[in-house]
Amino acid sequence: MSVLVQKYLDEIRAEHADITDGAVAHYIPELASVDPSSFGLSLELSDGYVYETGDSAVEFTIQSISKPFTYALVLDQVGADAVDTKIGVEPSGEPFNEISVDNQTKTPKNAMINAGAIAAVSLIPGADPAERFDRLLDFYSVCAGRRLDVDEEVYRSEKTTGSRNRAIAYMLQSFGVLDGDPDEVLDVYFRQCAIKVTSSDLACMASTLARGGVNPGSGIRAMSPAVVQRTLSVMMTCGMYDATGMWATTVGMPAKSGVGGGIIAVLPSQLGIGVYSPPLDRNGNSVRGLRACQSLSAQLGLHVMSVTRESRSTIRATHDIAPGVRVYELHGDLLFAGAERALRTVEHDSDGIDVAILELSRVDDINDVARRMLAGMRESLERAGKEGYLVDPDRRVMPTGRPSAGAVIFPTVDEALRAARDR
Ligand code: DON
Repeated sequence: MSVLVQKYLDEIRAEHADITDGAVAHYIPELASVDPSSFGLSLELSDGYVYETGDSAVEFTIQSISKPFTYALVLDQVGADAVDTKIGVEPSGEPFNEISVDNQTKTPKNAMINAGAIAAVSLIPGADPAERFDRLLDFYSVCAGRRLDVDEEVYRSEKTTGSRNRAIAYMLQSFGVLDGDPDEVLDVYFRQCAIKVTSSDLACMASTLARGGVNPGSGIRAMSPAVVQRTLSVMMTCGMYDATGMWATTVGMPAKSGVGGGIIAVLPSQLGIGVYSPPLDRNGNSVRGLRACQSLSAQLGLHVMSVTRESRSTIRATHDIAPGVRVYELHGDLLFAGAERALRTVEHDSDGIDVAILELSRVDDINDVARRMLAGMRESLERAGKEGYLVDPDRRVMPTGRPSAGAVIFPTVDEALRAARDR
């Protein structure tokens, strides 16, 4: 544990502990009985390490935080094309329980509002509602890293009072969006909303999304990176209902809230956040949860739009190791901008050198675009009569089978230098 990170988290919790604004949801009668003072805050890093503070072990119902996970499940099971015919990806500008569809397509605007979430449930493959729900619960449990369960009282409470969702489901049936029996679909939807989680479960589910679909604790893949990318995009634009714009500017992470008082936020490739505090604002978002996330984002620099990786720092050092032979040591995470910077520097230097050697042993991570660009360096240097080599000791950065056509790769700088001299 980092004492400093734990201290940050404890301080952020303490800073918001006295806030009592907002009201606990009561349109589902059973939700009105939760303790409004509960306040849990959890953070799970992409290597599975968890920081938690306050009531992080208190269970509450997931409610609408289920929506991105069911959306991810159906994207994974039936594919984006099939899902897109039934559910859009545009913000609705309406409350979460609006009885509406898109004017032109006659399908729900997105999967983060009730109409879209109910449509998503209807797409889960399964012979009957029980099989659909089992599949859903298995999926959520893999994301949370433990077996989850349903709060039967909350489930029954919503089932007996959920007229509005019934109206939505029947409306969807009339537009041909729901194929099955609306009441059977709703039963699965009510159950999914009543799944019990803690703020630490939510942090784990969020960090599974942050890790591109792999639960960082168990190492089990729950979904593909493409499904995560789509799910996070819709969370970013639609996850916080009518407060999505404010959230995007002040917190800046894909997120989802639920009327149970939970919020998840995802910082891709870095971490997942889970917060629990039941009193809600008029948009249906947890008041303290929102403010705690604003503080976390500001104090820990978590906004996705903040420029954290300055591509200029990609080149750690350069050395001339023989006349006309220059080594460029690259480091950190290499994406498009970093690779572009490295190639531009090499090409700019090419008048004064004959051979450029990119030393990659300190590169932590790289994507296929950057790989392709590094592999292409040789071709662009060849045009000027020069040569470009890569040094990748264990083929960790440029593994065989990934895009590296045309690259000449050596295990050591010495061997690259020998090749340069032979040349
Ligand atoms: O459909 C409903 O009304 C609830 N079970 C879930 C709504 C919800 O959590 C909205 N989010 N803020």
